[in-house]
Amino acid sequence: MPSFTWEDTPDPYDDSSLVNNLSFSPALPATIDNHLFLPSDNYPALQKLTPIYQNKIDLIYIDPPYNTGNTFAYEDSQQHDEWLSFMSRRLKLAQQLLAPTGCIFIAIDQTELYHLKLLCDQIFGEQNFVNDFMWLHGKGKKDTWSRTLQQHTLCYAKDKANLPPFRETQSTTWATKNPDNDPRGNWFSGSISFTEKRSNPSHKNYFSITSPSGKVWTRQWLCTKDQMDELLAQNKIWFGPAPEYDAVPREKIFNDQQKEIIPRNIIDEVESTRHAQAHLDELLEEKNSFDNPKPVSLIAHLIQIACPKKDALIMDFFAGSGTTFEAVCTLNANDNGTRRTILIQKQEPNKNQSRYKTLSDLCWARIQTNSMAYGEPCKLVILK
Ligand SMILES: C[S@@+](CC[C@H](N)C(=O)[O-])C[C@H]1O[C@@H](n2cnc3c(N)ncnc32)[C@H](O)[C@@H]1O
Repeated sequence: MPSFTWEDTPDPYDDSSLVNNLSFSPALPATIDNHLFLPSDNYPALQKLTPIYQNKIDLIYIDPPYNTGNTFAYEDSQQHDEWLSFMSRRLKLAQQLLAPTGCIFIAIDQTELYHLKLLCDQIFGEQNFVNDFMWLHGKGKKDTWSRTLQQHTLCYAKDKANLPPFRETQSTTWATKNPDNDPRGNWFSGSISFTEKRSNPSHKNYFSITSPSGKVWTRQWLCTKDQMDELLAQNKIWFGPAPEYDAVPREKIFNDQQKEIIPRNIIDEVESTRHAQAHLDELLEEKNSFDNPKPVSLIAHLIQIACPKKDALIMDFFAGSGTTFEAVCTLNANDNGTRRTILIQKQEPNKNQSRYKTLSDLCWARIQTNSMAYGEPCKLVILK
């Protein structure tokens, strides 16, 4: 891998004696049974959290300042080198915190995307890059030459060899045909086998099935023999129209049937930036007190595709308005999960007009509102 260097900007919290003098109040348990909110600079906080939760965090989602040079509620203007120094310190600690099966999602736009990719390749290893999940966030950001429709979310595994496969559950709605007048309604057919040429005869799913007209199909299937027998018994295998029944067998998938698919890296079914802003304004009963909150459904989607554990420990150390907390609450409410979050948000003065003078106050206010709505208590932890 080519080396990637920049001029390092030191951080006061590089001084370990300064960090050693800090402690959490209340002290943090090794096993977390409550959500935690830390109104603190994430660098010292991550340094203190690492010895307690090293290798224990299942998923980290962060949405750091993109370094756009714009005036937002939060500071978003640094030199590239400064930004890389800032991110590198935090990402190295994040890497240590991740569980062996864990992964991190990092939201970013094109201002720092290409630097961030090189930085992450260095910290997490090029081989642990999973994908860039691009979110189509609305009408796009235009300049004289083009309109940029996507924001990026780089995903890295702690160790890709241990990362469970990502899955997305999709509910079919688009079937419009019912070629065999099935009383269960409209369906479409999905592939359920490899071609004979691509089939592996020693694979455990290599077996034969026979169509109603007696045509035998021997190949490698995408299901086991038992699952195939079940599908056949339920009349869910389509062999083509009667009386020939001679088409390559496919699975009948009915409307409203839940289907697991490999997630696409372009996310366009979740809410837009505008929608996320309106939702936050309504929750806080204040207009535009925070800029660029992410939609709850975007973060919930990423957690859902990457982490099947219903008791996952999830961290967001650039919490902003606390969207990650709400996303986890909605997931827990949907599947009776007991996921827990650790959220960190700096006590940064709010540059926008708001009754919340710091962004940590704003985040805490939203957490408390969500906490009450979902019955998910969150503990305030002070680092001093
Ligand atoms: C883009 S916003 C995150 C928005 C968030 N995803 C949401 O949906 O509301 C980035 C946040 O990181 C916070 N931040 C910046 N530097 C930080 C630091 N050193 N420690 C903790 N938070 C920090 C900023 O105050 C800002 O609220």
